[in-house]
Amino acid sequence: MTTAKKGFPENFLWGGATAANQLEGAFDKDGKGLSTADMIAHVPKEKRTGGHAMEISSSRIEEILSGKIEERFPKRFGIDFYHRFKEDIALFAEMGFKVFRLSIHWARIFPNGYDQEPNEAGLKFYDEVFDELLKYGIEPLVTLSHYETPLGLTQKYNGWAGREVIQHYVRYAETVFNRYKNKVKYWLTFNEINVMLFSPYTGGGILIDKVDNQLQTTYQALHHQFVASAMVTKLAHEIIPGSQVGCMLARMETYPATCNPVDVRLAQHENQINLFFTDMHARGKYPNYMGRYFEENNVVIHKEPGDDEILLNNTVDFISFSYYMSVTKSASADLEETTGNLTGGVKNPYLEASDWGWEIDPIGLRITLNNFWDRYQKPLFIVENGLGAYDKVEEDGSIHDSYRVDYLKKHIEQMKEAIKDGVDLIGFTAWGPIDLVSMSTSEMSKRYGFIYVDLDDEGNGTLERSKKDSFDWYKNVIASNGEQL
Ligand code: BG6
Repeated sequence: MTTAKKGFPENFLWGGATAANQLEGAFDKDGKGLSTADMIAHVPKEKRTGGHAMEISSSRIEEILSGKIEERFPKRFGIDFYHRFKEDIALFAEMGFKVFRLSIHWARIFPNGYDQEPNEAGLKFYDEVFDELLKYGIEPLVTLSHYETPLGLTQKYNGWAGREVIQHYVRYAETVFNRYKNKVKYWLTFNEINVMLFSPYTGGGILIDKVDNQLQTTYQALHHQFVASAMVTKLAHEIIPGSQVGCMLARMETYPATCNPVDVRLAQHENQINLFFTDMHARGKYPNYMGRYFEENNVVIHKEPGDDEILLNNTVDFISFSYYMSVTKSASADLEETTGNLTGGVKNPYLEASDWGWEIDPIGLRITLNNFWDRYQKPLFIVENGLGAYDKVEEDGSIHDSYRVDYLKKHIEQMKEAIKDGVDLIGFTAWGPIDLVSMSTSEMSKRYGFIYVDLDDEGNGTLERSKKDSFDWYKNVIASNGEQL
């Protein structure tokens, strides 16, 4: 008999998560090259078809590069963290962050991706950021690739569709591991690696008009990312003794709409397609269920000698994931559909949804954590969770975001339950601790932060930072190690 854990472990890593392209700005400063994110224009709500502007063609890229386009590209400007990081990190420190998740913008280090020598100014910027974090005792958690493929790699190889990109990614990783080996211990190889299934451009820098068979190209490109991920996991362990490398999945816990076995099997299939990515990283080999899926969908993975060994011998140290919502699937065409983060399903009558239709399901997080733990017995890290919402600034400047507190409180309660269930959860980084540009819609009005940024969807504002009510709430959550919610 073992005894149940009571609550969060003493060294639990509380903090916040961001991505360079949604935060930094300074897209053309100090030698940075263009990335795929710099090509994504803001689409006003009334003009959105299908909600996202995530697929881009080669002709569109040419059009943008010719400079004839008058649209705005918010991910080029972010919230100007590049110039304000000291102020922002001081606020994170005031909240008591133990960890801060950020990504290195690959094109800041290797402007075209295929360059042989790194850009010193880019390396220096992250030195300063890490030093600032460490000054406050905040551990950096670094994503190597968060939807920021250098555009040069897209133009030359059609992004991760080309196997050549592996060597460029490995050179980039080796460069930053060597540079920051005394500053960064926690690394993630690819943000939400499964996103390539929903958007080959976002996840892999792939221009869909240049491929004949999307499913084939996507899974082949994913094979390249799996191999690259395993190669840099090996490198990190060699270069940085004691380093911890994780994979990162957009987890879509999928429920059957009814207990009809047809629905149950459909949900099981959806879960397998989603968990395939963590299976690859944690077990180091292609699962049997994918063999059948590939065969039935005419997908053939081209491997090179040694790929299987690299994958098998370099599995990750921990599993990280984003969790915003659950998904419900039905084999029947009669039920009302919903959209959500990247994927949708049918409406779950027991759940409410955010203003963007993402179904809010705190208990689903406990289920997710238990399922992961049962499957892998590897430490788990929630590296994204939060509520995108419209905030109202009162006349005195205050922002009463009780809805955000409510969302996070309910999710953290379920994390605690999962820990009591015996799950080894090592940290939690709330998505967007400071308002930043939305990934899916490139808008500012979808806000996640504890810190408000004065910037609107049209790019107007002072960029001034101010605290929302949730700021002090989260500060107290951290100070009480999750006891006071
Ligand atoms: C995740 C991404 O999918 O969700 C982040 O890793 C993203 O980059 C976050 O910002 C929230 O999504 P959105 O579209 O609301 O910004």
